[in-house]
This record gives sequence, C-alpha cells and structure tokens, in this order.
Amino acid sequence: MSNSTASAASAGKRLEGKVAIITGGASGIGACTVKLFIIHGAKVIIADVQDDLGLSLCKDIASENISYVHCDVTKESDVKNIVDTAILKYGRLDIMYSNAGIGGQFHISTILEAESEDFKRVLDVNLHGGFLCAKHAARVMIPERKGVILFTSSDMSVTAGLGPHAYVTSKVALVGLAKNLCVDLGKHGIRVNCISPSLNATPLVFSTMKMDKNAIGKLFESSTVLKGAVLEAEDVAETALFLASDESKVISGQNIVIDGGYGTTNLAFNMKLQELMSRNQTN
Ligand SMILES: NC(=O)c1ccc[n+]([C@@H]2O[C@H](COP(=O)([O-])OP(=O)(O)OC[C@H]3O[C@@H](n4cnc5c(N)ncnc54)[C@H](O)[C@@H]3O)[C@@H](O)[C@H]2O)c1
Repeated sequence: MSNSTASAASAGKRLEGKVAIITGGASGIGACTVKLFIIHGAKVIIADVQDDLGLSLCKDIASENISYVHCDVTKESDVKNIVDTAILKYGRLDIMYSNAGIGGQFHISTILEAESEDFKRVLDVNLHGGFLCAKHAARVMIPERKGVILFTSSDMSVTAGLGPHAYVTSKVALVGLAKNLCVDLGKHGIRVNCISPSLNATPLVFSTMKMDKNAIGKLFESSTVLKGAVLEAEDVAETALFLASDESKVISGQNIVIDGGYGTTNLAFNMKLQELMSRNQTN
C-alpha cells in the first residue's frame, strides 16, 4: 500500500474487509478493541471463556460482522477450532490479537508467598495461550504470505518490580516470543508486535487492585511522567488498530509501551533529593 493509500484508509475504515480474532474479547481492553475493529470495517470473532459476556457484547454491537466462539486459550483444540472457524466462515484470517490474560496472585509482594500452582496457571494463560494463538494463526497465514499477530504484554515487561513474579515473567516472555516470531514469520510477510499498556481501568484491575475507575486514573496520572492524560482501554485499542492496519506495514518485532513515559525514568532519586532539600530548609 502506498503512503497516499494508507492515509486515505486512515481517514475512513482502516480494517475494511479484514478478519480478526481477538482473545479475551469479551471484556476490558479486548472488548474495546472489538468495538473499534468493527467500526473500522473488520469482521471480528471474539474468543473468550466468558460466554454470557461475549454473547451480550455481540448483541449490543448488533452487526453481522461480529460473532462469539468459546475458546479457552490454554487448550490447543479450542485455539485450533477458533482459527478453523475463521477460515470456514470468512475464508481468511488477517489479524490474530492474543490479548486474553489473568493477573494471578496480584496481592503478594514476595516470592516466599508465591504459589507454584498460581505461577503455572498465569504462564499457561498469558504465555502458553499466546504461543498457541500464534502457532495456529501462522498455520493459516503462511500460505497467504501475510498477516498480523499482536500480543497484549504489559509495561511490566520493561519496568521491573511493579507486579508479582508470575505475571511479570509471563509478560516479559511474551515480548521474547513476539521478537522471535518476527524473525521466524517475517519471510512469510507476517508482522508480529506487542502492546504494553500501563494501568488502565478494566475488570482485571478492579478485581486485583480493589480500586474504582476514578482511583485507578488518579494513581496513573500521579505516578507517570506525562500529566493531563489518563490511560484508558480505548487508547490500547487505538494502538492495536494502528498495528493491525496497513499503516504499520513495516513495523514488526516491536514492543509498543503505552505508559505516559513512566518506564523512561526513575524518579526515586529526585523525590528523595527534594525531600532532603525541603527538610534542610525547615531545619
Ligand atoms: N488493565 C490493565 O491495566 C492492563 C495493563 C497491562 C496489560 N494488561 C493485559 O491486557 C489484557 C486484557 O486484560 P484486561 O485488563 O482487559 O482485563 P479483563 O479481565 O477485562 O479481560 C481479560 C479477558 O481475558 C479472558 N480470559 C481469561 N482467561 C482466558 C482463557 N483461558 N481463555 C480465553 N480468555 C480468557 C477473560 O475472560 C477476560 O474477558 C491481559 O493480557 C492483561 O494482562 C492489562
């Protein structure tokens, strides 16, 4: 696609005619992305384990271009089935957005409290699920010599110490998987990228942090570098739209961090310095 065609597409429907699977599409970031992709002309299959939520999202959107299929991303037969469903229904798969994820034991702060079963479960959903999605998407994309594979990682893939070991390990490993896939699949015209958002108000965060939307927004803005903006699931969806569309046709192997600059700096030194200076002034 030429630059002028790309900008013409950007003015209108940026995914016209494309077929996408979005895992974890029944809720949060996934649901926002489903809505945005539909607006931009894609045919979307939601893959999730929350059947009621997925089906009611389809009902709300009320488009012939949306459908829901139960898919537990830890089960290879389910992932194979959803990819085969896309091919049966539409004859193609252009975009696999592997977004499903769980937080696991988010309340713990040390490995001494971490449970082995939790570690295995988090890696099974967040990492192994991503592997299975990529494998089955590649199976049908390679013969077509094109396609886009996206993963939702996290800002914790670049800034350590923000979450429990299982979650952080799964998200760092997803970036490694995406980079290796970029090399493996690039020769087949398939692009692979990660999206790494910081804290944004979704059911996953409500349940793990026990905070409401307002408090989550305040926490984000007060802790990051950029002021005057709060990260929302819609911002992550917009990034997914860009990476799924032909506007990013040469971008592969990247981890796009959406954190208002949080990961670029360590403000601890400055904060300590200011604290010492104000203490000296009062003495
Ligand atoms: N919200 C945030 O602050 C934030 C920040 C960074 C990364 N993320 C990541 O974004 C992704 C989406 O999370 P969210 O915040 O929208 O939370 P969410 O809980 O609203 O959505 C996650 C979805 O994944 C689905 N899911 C869980 N296990 C599954 C499985 N085995 N098979 C299929 N689907 C499954 C859930 O049913 C749910 O619909 C996750 O990978 C999460 O780790 C979220």
